[in-house]
Amino acid sequence: MPALVLLGAQWGDEGKGKATDLLGGSVDYVVRYQGGNNAGHTVVVGDQKYALHLLPSGILSPGCTPVIGNGVVVDPSVLLSELSGLNERGVDTSKLLLSGNAHIITPYNVTVDKVTERFLGKRKIGTTGRGIGPTYADKINRVGIRVQDLYDESILTQKVEAALDAKNQILTKLYNRRAIAVDQVVEELLAYADKLAPYVADTVLVLNQALEEDKVVLFEGGQGTLLDIDHGTYPFVTSSNPTAGGACTGAGVGPTKISRVIGILKAYTTRVGAGPFPTELFDEDGEALRRIGGERGVTTGRDRRCGWFDAVIARYATRVNGLTDFFLTKLDVLTGWEQIPVCVAYEIDGKRVEELPYSQTDFHHAKPVYEMLPGWNEDISKAKTFGDLPKNAQAYVKALEEMSGAPISAIGVGPGRDETIEINSFI
Ligand code: GDP
Ligand code: IMO
Ligand code: MG
Repeated sequence: MPALVLLGAQWGDEGKGKATDLLGGSVDYVVRYQGGNNAGHTVVVGDQKYALHLLPSGILSPGCTPVIGNGVVVDPSVLLSELSGLNERGVDTSKLLLSGNAHIITPYNVTVDKVTERFLGKRKIGTTGRGIGPTYADKINRVGIRVQDLYDESILTQKVEAALDAKNQILTKLYNRRAIAVDQVVEELLAYADKLAPYVADTVLVLNQALEEDKVVLFEGGQGTLLDIDHGTYPFVTSSNPTAGGACTGAGVGPTKISRVIGILKAYTTRVGAGPFPTELFDEDGEALRRIGGERGVTTGRDRRCGWFDAVIARYATRVNGLTDFFLTKLDVLTGWEQIPVCVAYEIDGKRVEELPYSQTDFHHAKPVYEMLPGWNEDISKAKTFGDLPKNAQAYVKALEEMSGAPISAIGVGPGRDETIEINSFI
């Protein structure tokens, strides 16, 4: 079973970093396949806490080769500072491989992200402001800059010119901003070329050869299923495909190679940024989930919106990703509630609906239908086996599993690597 995909089953921040790090010790390659430094993955190893944005969480496992695939958008300054931050803490990053086909987040992409959000006013998406959307837009418009372009000054200059031609018109005439000079951008980008050169590789070839040799490859998603540009709550989404298919296009590996797809699922729900969220809480329960769960964004420091578990979403994630397993995280956060509501269906304009509606209007009207499950008070953070959990916590997990449509193969009971109950092994 060589190729596994690990992805977010909700709106991101499900604990993908922790889960990837946990598996990192038993895999040969960990690959990011989409997104960029909009991601914020927290990994806790012993008393050390790491916040990763662009680097795959496998970078903390010495035997594992971390790979940034062609589907990722890369801000070179962020990549280099993340690498040097880890080096200062004694982490060896020399094995990193960076796809020469990955697109670069240029300074003007970051500018465009910020000004378009401001221009949208109250209709804004609440992006991370990292230039993600505009960089993917340039890619699709075929005016993107790729890592390989840093190694041909003439081509780089032509491409930056092509990208800035229309953008400068828009920046100056529509957004009332100063035009961006081509040579300044080219100079800034060329300054990264030598520093990135040791990492640049044909990652598609490397990964396919590794799979032929029966090496274990783990694809780590950024964001989550409901933030997917095709399958998420459009337009309140990111600009890439975190869903399982994205691993194939974003790393250049055929779907026949993927043997397992693991959905990371928080025992409740959170969301950052704008957009519909049926189980969102505006009361003291929401406040308590935020406080106990430490629900503050790793990338932007924004408070995360919090709500109860939504089984409709989990079922949807199972379907669009072909999930084979769930990794349920943060069960410990729910300790202390007498009863825990779980959303089992929606009521939309007076009708009960069991599955996620494709229509944006319907989803905006969706009201959660709750079932109450009994809570528990015992500290579960030291639980090592499913049997160590109190009966009501076991029943909560079993109920979620039944509603969500795939087996729960691991349970997180704390942020640390070892604070995990492993039920079925992943590899
Ligand atoms: P990611 O973006 O999916 O990697 O998730 P984040 O790192 O943004 O957010 C998840 C947060 O929950 C991090 O602070 C993790 O350290 C923490 N975490 C992960 N799993 C667990 C768990 O099982 N219990 C608790 N209490 N915290 C967890
Ligand atoms: P991880 O990998 C949660 C959200 C933003 C915004 C929308 C679009 O840590 O789970 P973008 O900057 O991508 O154009 O913003 O997507 N978003 C995330 N929310 N976790 C993330 O990453 C996210 N990455 C982007 O808040 O609503
Ligand atoms: Mg995160």
